Amino acid sequence: MIITTDNAFILQTPATTYILRRTNHGHLEHIYYGPSIPDITPQDIESLAHKRTAQAGTTVAYTQEDLTYSLDRIPLEWSGIGKGDYRFSPAEICMPDGGYISDFIYKSHNTGDGTLPIKGLPTAKGHNAKHLKITLKDTSTELYLTLIYTVFQNSNVITRRAIIENRDTPPAKLRRMLSMMLDMPNQDFHITTFAGDWAKEAHRNTRPLQPGMFVNESRTGASSNKHNPGVFIAESIATQESGQVYGFNLVYSGNHFSFVELNSHGLVRIGMGISPHCFEWPLNQGEKFETPEVAMTVSDQGYNGASQNFHDFINTNIILKEWQAKPRPVLYNSWEPCFFNFNEGSLLKLARQAKSLGMELFVLDDGWFGARNSDNAGLGDYEINRKKFPRGLKPFADRLRAMGLEFGIWFEPEMVNPDSELYRTHPEYAVEMPSRHSTMGRNQLVLDLCNPKVRDYIVDNITSILDETGATYVKWDMNRHISEFYSPHAPAGTFFHKYILGLYEILERIFHPRPHILLESCSSGGNRFDLGMLCFSPQIWTSDCTDPIERLNIQGGLSHLYPPSTMGAHVSDAPHQQTLRDTPLSTRFNVASFGVLGYELDLRHLSKMERREIAEQVAFYKAHRQAFQYGTFSRLESPKDNKVTWQVWDGKKAISGLFQTMAKVSENPDILRFKSFHPKKRYRVSTRPQRLFIKRFGGLVKHILPVNLNPSGIILNLANRLHALTDCVETYEASGAALAHGIALSNQFMGSHYNENTRLLGDYGSNLYVATSI
Ligand code: GLA
Repeated sequence: MIITTDNAFILQTPATTYILRRTNHGHLEHIYYGPSIPDITPQDIESLAHKRTAQAGTTVAYTQEDLTYSLDRIPLEWSGIGKGDYRFSPAEICMPDGGYISDFIYKSHNTGDGTLPIKGLPTAKGHNAKHLKITLKDTSTELYLTLIYTVFQNSNVITRRAIIENRDTPPAKLRRMLSMMLDMPNQDFHITTFAGDWAKEAHRNTRPLQPGMFVNESRTGASSNKHNPGVFIAESIATQESGQVYGFNLVYSGNHFSFVELNSHGLVRIGMGISPHCFEWPLNQGEKFETPEVAMTVSDQGYNGASQNFHDFINTNIILKEWQAKPRPVLYNSWEPCFFNFNEGSLLKLARQAKSLGMELFVLDDGWFGARNSDNAGLGDYEINRKKFPRGLKPFADRLRAMGLEFGIWFEPEMVNPDSELYRTHPEYAVEMPSRHSTMGRNQLVLDLCNPKVRDYIVDNITSILDETGATYVKWDMNRHISEFYSPHAPAGTFFHKYILGLYEILERIFHPRPHILLESCSSGGNRFDLGMLCFSPQIWTSDCTDPIERLNIQGGLSHLYPPSTMGAHVSDAPHQQTLRDTPLSTRFNVASFGVLGYELDLRHLSKMERREIAEQVAFYKAHRQAFQYGTFSRLESPKDNKVTWQVWDGKKAISGLFQTMAKVSENPDILRFKSFHPKKRYRVSTRPQRLFIKRFGGLVKHILPVNLNPSGIILNLANRLHALTDCVETYEASGAALAHGIALSNQFMGSHYNENTRLLGDYGSNLYVATSI
């Protein structure tokens, strides 16, 4: 809901309120953003507003008629440069009058239903959204600034963005043009960001806000695995489950920038948008520049509250309509088991196994085209590799379909290997600076998406393969950061943004006419995990690291910003390719189930028991798929530093995962809490039955088995393939209130009592608990 009064604008979602107003001098003043305040009166606004009754020393007064009106001390919705506000401005513009001074003053506004599209950029969608458009004008030039606020009635999210237009004759030049800013009083804020690198994406970092400016930025050409664009600002006392938390995220996949500045007057300024790094955008007369959208939320229910608002928003307003709430298939991916070493026959063998274990989609990963037998060659080419697929891809896809599996395929469309037909014929398609040596990443160069011919080349090749093979899933990869960024098709300073506009155009042209294709975006894992990509691809390959213990940090970090339905999560072989850590098959599944499940382990060498375990995992996941993919996800606080607890709740049942990172000897009982249940109703809690593989116990098996076996002997190996122990199965019954307090779980093994009532977790052990009403 949007309410406008004489000079104020009130934006309401079910649980949040945002208020701004026009000052006497025409600036937009930020009044309030926080948990819902109903029935707002002018007196409320006056009381909430930041007071200015005295003039502070060394400030600059905007006008001699009101010496207390200093822009440096007013919480604003947008600030220019050179009029007494010394905080960081969201825009640095070389103005048509030749200076950098800008002062945007209210001109007009209107409100309307629905969302407003942005030219060339994806936006959130939603029929019951409302928008407010406020137009401001620079006091001395014909530069117009439009601020757009969109209120999403169902998701407690408000989005903001800005459009700048030059109606003046002399050109202007944008050196920085962010999407939004807002100021609020500091409430002992902490800043949380999600940083990492390849295979260790989105680790959560929290630090106190200090005077000065904090920046979260990507300069790699993508939203990056180094710094995810999402940022939280929260009271220092906020936990996962309580306290006031603000969240901001950008609907954009390129270089991003957000800043949080605490000034000397105790005001916090937050801004977000495209990174100003090597950015310069000419704005000639009649031209506009549209910035990407920022999604904002606030909750007084801690980080989980803010996350859940983002999750709802993504599931209902970012993900394509065709894929909203739609069950995502359990897939099998050929990458980790095969790398480049496969042919049609060997893949069909794997596919048959995958099908027999309950999987639904077979993904042919890298290596099916050109001379792609290693990562040295072939990218950019689309000829099917006839040594691997003598009859082409269509018969292979048909065989999969005949087996009852869907066919999915991997592409890395934005790249070219110098050793490829494409590079030999069109070296000018690659991003290279003619006067400089080209830096390689994974032996490949980036294609120049600013060049319309490159875009056509990609669209034509991919669409013909998709249409020929009938693929219903695409994994769209992008495996290096950009360097030597230069294009004859984009003036310096426009390259990075034009690259992303080119990418969005390609995705739109390929997938808009083919909405039945499930797109999973990937960039060496989560190097481009952002709301921009999610507008096209309902799920993203979360990380190349499939070690479940690492995934607790990666999926746990990303879950602050993105729902489980967006996170590709696969069970792979152990010891893990990325860590050499050996983890139980049960934990690999238990972690992956809090995402979109897939398998990427070598099915050829599984034991009978492992096969049985996997078939049961897949069946369990399918039975609870809606809860795992679309349920309300929470991270529960744990008093122990070796435990992680996640929960999904679908309105009727909850599933909790309790994960032990490192075992501790003789540990105090673990307490398992459930959120969201009705306090008076009664619930039954039971463990998902899972197997313990005998081999894990080495020489200790003598305590469990009646016979004394050699721990490295053939018999134990054979027994391990044919038999497994049942892990401790716990069942409890309690009221919702008791479950909210927490149930004390059975003891863990502590040197005695190998029995069915003892939890045998050890390092990296875990269990899933299902709670249903009785
Ligand atoms: C990237 C992806 C992997 C796999 C390989 C193939 O690393 O993240 O999942 O597709 O490329 O080369």
